[in-house]
Amino acid sequence: MSALKILVIPGSLRTGSLNARLAAAAAYELAQADAEVTRISLGDFPLPIYDGDLQTKSGVPKHAINLKRMIGAHHGVLIVTPEYNSSVPPLVKNTIDWVTRVQDAPEARGQVFRERAFAIASASGSRLGGSRALAALRLILSACHATVIPNQLALSFADQAYDDMDRLKHPGDIEALNALVRQLIDVSQRMM
Ligand SMILES: Cc1cc2nc3c(=O)[nH]c(=O)nc-3n(C[C@H](O)[C@H](O)[C@H](O)COP(=O)(O)O)c2cc1C
Repeated sequence: MSALKILVIPGSLRTGSLNARLAAAAAYELAQADAEVTRISLGDFPLPIYDGDLQTKSGVPKHAINLKRMIGAHHGVLIVTPEYNSSVPPLVKNTIDWVTRVQDAPEARGQVFRERAFAIASASGSRLGGSRALAALRLILSACHATVIPNQLALSFADQAYDDMDRLKHPGDIEALNALVRQLIDVSQRMM
């Protein structure tokens, strides 16, 4: 069987992002579990705010097509999103919106979501850890007919969650991350 490939997407571009740090910790655990991990920055896939007129005039931007193909080259995807005003940030929603518009013949539009497993996680300095963003993201991905695994991680008090090596330091957080990683690998393998 070929190596299991997992794509990790942090939903923040901010320097020192709590979510980028969680994405890095998750990528490390996935690699420890023998997955082949690609961790990207959405900064390398800059996209304008979705506008139907823009799509009609210029087509879907190449960065959306490239990101869709990057997703398609992996068996599973982990999205680590911040919570903005109880939902997902515009960066995450706008990226998903553009990717859903990619028509890569002979595939049907949106097929890239239907054929692989998605895991979701969030990190926030608050007690809820971004759990409302996860509810929103689960709804969005489910509406795209993605298989979103049941386990998820909302990392509370994320500004105090890491040790000096940038690893999670609280046993409960470590166990939740490991459970997420194990289930993403398991479901992705079954969907290969
Ligand atoms: C516009 C805006 C809205 C926010 N709303 C929430 C919120 O609803 N819940 C929450 O836990 N944190 C909220 N925050 C705080 C973010 O969780 C915090 O800035 C976090 O560090 C952002 O993620 P990042 O560190 O990965 O960039 C908000 C921040 C911004 C800028």
